[in-house]
Amino acid sequence: MKIFVTGGAGYIGSHTLVRLLSAGHEICVFDNFSNSSPEALARVKQLTNRDFALVEGDIRDASALTRALVEFGADAAVHFAGLKAVGESSEKPLLYYENNVSGSAHLLAAMDAAGCRRIVFSSSATVYGEAQCLPFDEDHPIAPTNPYGRTKAMVEGMIRDWSAATPDASAVLLRYFNPVGAHESGRIGEDPQGIPNNLMPYIAQVAIGRRERLSIFGDDYDTRDGTGERDYIHVVDLADAHLAALDYTGRAAGCEAINVGTGKGITVKELVAAYERACGHSIAYEITPRRPGDVAISFAATGKARELLGWEAALNVDAMCASSWLWQSTNAEGYGETA
Ligand code: NAD
Ligand code: UFG
Repeated sequence: MKIFVTGGAGYIGSHTLVRLLSAGHEICVFDNFSNSSPEALARVKQLTNRDFALVEGDIRDASALTRALVEFGADAAVHFAGLKAVGESSEKPLLYYENNVSGSAHLLAAMDAAGCRRIVFSSSATVYGEAQCLPFDEDHPIAPTNPYGRTKAMVEGMIRDWSAATPDASAVLLRYFNPVGAHESGRIGEDPQGIPNNLMPYIAQVAIGRRERLSIFGDDYDTRDGTGERDYIHVVDLADAHLAALDYTGRAAGCEAINVGTGKGITVKELVAAYERACGHSIAYEITPRRPGDVAISFAATGKARELLGWEAALNVDAMCASSWLWQSTNAEGYGETA
């Protein structure tokens, strides 16, 4: 199948490319490298021994996007491109609406121009907001608490409307929980710019000595050990979920939102302990006040993914930490330094 991959050079995109190429698909990546490096794509080629097309471009540029998609003749799109920093989205909301919402509208219009009717979209568990009940199932009310989450909810609605208006269209909205880890080779991984916002890359940078200690944001939540509990999902499992979702778009028309998680919560302290096992030394941390906007517990109901996609997570927290550590310890500066 010919698959057009926006944001393919990013963290989740690069891991998904490995799986798509290994499965024999023909790929065109469309990325502006605003939060990624061409080096990630070079490594994907090395890992798979497969080549693919690359168009350096911005999804806000409707004509460049349409040209690329029509020329490639895509059968399906996987749409990763977007900005994802929750804090930044409150400071620069219009940038997020323009990039994530307008960019996605341009993609759907470009798909119409190319006669492409299948899409898998990177949504987020953040669309649920505060938990009314746990685990989060796909029918949980949508009430995001920040501009980033609102852009994801808006794009979900837009894709739903597009699919209803487009004969034979098929869309899967994958609501990722907390993606972590790296490819088992350690050649590709998560390479955040500046100070990491998320827990796992922060722990990894403390483990390698780039940062002195982790701040644990609160130990007075109503959880097993008082620290926040999340559903961490191995990025390689997540990549496989995209293949299963693409497959599904070939079998069923319409639009489905589907959670991608393990269904199990892990606390901050439990993740730190697992990382210590992986790297073989202790991770320094201090307890600091809660981070505004954080919820105590988030984890996924996984039945719909199993039922519709035949997919479930296979890799555990030790595999997540071991792969993260292999990536971090062999690429201390991420893609900035070739290992
Ligand atoms: P990432 O930043 O590593 O990858 C995003 C890619 O999109 C980058 O290569 C970036 O250069 C590209 N991009 C951004 N804006 C673009 C534009 N206007 N035009 C072209 N390319 C553009 O992020 P990721 O972690 O791989 O996330 C991929 C998607 O999954 C995002 O849409 C994100 O919102 C969503 N998501 C991520 C997480 C997470 O925790 N990583 C959780 C839920 C959802
Ligand atoms: N945490 C710390 N210290 C840190 C970073 C995080 O203690 O330095 C804690 C948080 O308080 C939380 C847990 O670690 O309890 C996980 O925090 P992350 O920032 O890694 O992840 P979140 O669950 O807050 O949010 C992430 C993404 C969102 C996405 C959401 C659901 O940042 O974009 O997962 O997919 F929407």
